[in-house]
Amino acid sequence: MDTIFKRRSVRKYTDRPVTDEEIKQILKAGMAAPSAKNSMEWVFIVIRDKNIFEEFCKVHVNAFALKTAQAAVLVCADLSEEKDPGQGWWIQDCAAAMENMLLEATDLGLGTLWMGVYPKEDRIKCMKELCKLPEGIEPLGLMSIGEAGKAKEPIDRYMGDRVFADVYGKLWKD
Ligand SMILES: Cc1cc2nc3c(=O)[nH]c(=O)nc-3n(C[C@H](O)[C@H](O)[C@H](O)COP(=O)(O)O)c2cc1C
Repeated sequence: MDTIFKRRSVRKYTDRPVTDEEIKQILKAGMAAPSAKNSMEWVFIVIRDKNIFEEFCKVHVNAFALKTAQAAVLVCADLSEEKDPGQGWWIQDCAAAMENMLLEATDLGLGTLWMGVYPKEDRIKCMKELCKLPEGIEPLGLMSIGEAGKAKEPIDRYMGDRVFADVYGKLWKD
């Protein structure tokens, strides 16, 4: 699947608007992700408010992609929807949704960036305040979206020395 290798982090975007239809398609991909016990405890906040982008940049210096982003999606979990409460599966569930969204956006010809929110306390607090998240809604990460300002090369990071056969240390292939 070429899209996997084409997906790269994009931190500068053009002025080309991102449509609600594109965002809906990206959200559909997110909600198609696997989740533990099919919890699907995710909640998504579509953000177009530049003030929210600016305020988050004050807390997270490596969120500067938001300066040119056309939109962003905050991927959160509604902890009340967890099928196995308190185990923390939501982190993996929301990460799977996030990755699906990055890939769908890539397939649509859009650039994205995954910005980490969880587990950094200051970023969590900031996003909770800015997006008025009620108790029990936990943010995992923020995805910026836009047309890439500059094309990036597809990536192949295969590392044969990280792959073992049956037991750790026995290389799967030389
Ligand atoms: C959990 C997670 C958090 C990340 N947070 C940030 C971030 O806050 N700011 C940023 O510029 N990049 C962030 N990245 C992007 C990584 O830096 C990037 O994926 C990595 O350098 C590999 O580059 P690539 O995405 O182009 O393959 C994050 C990626 C992940 C998976």
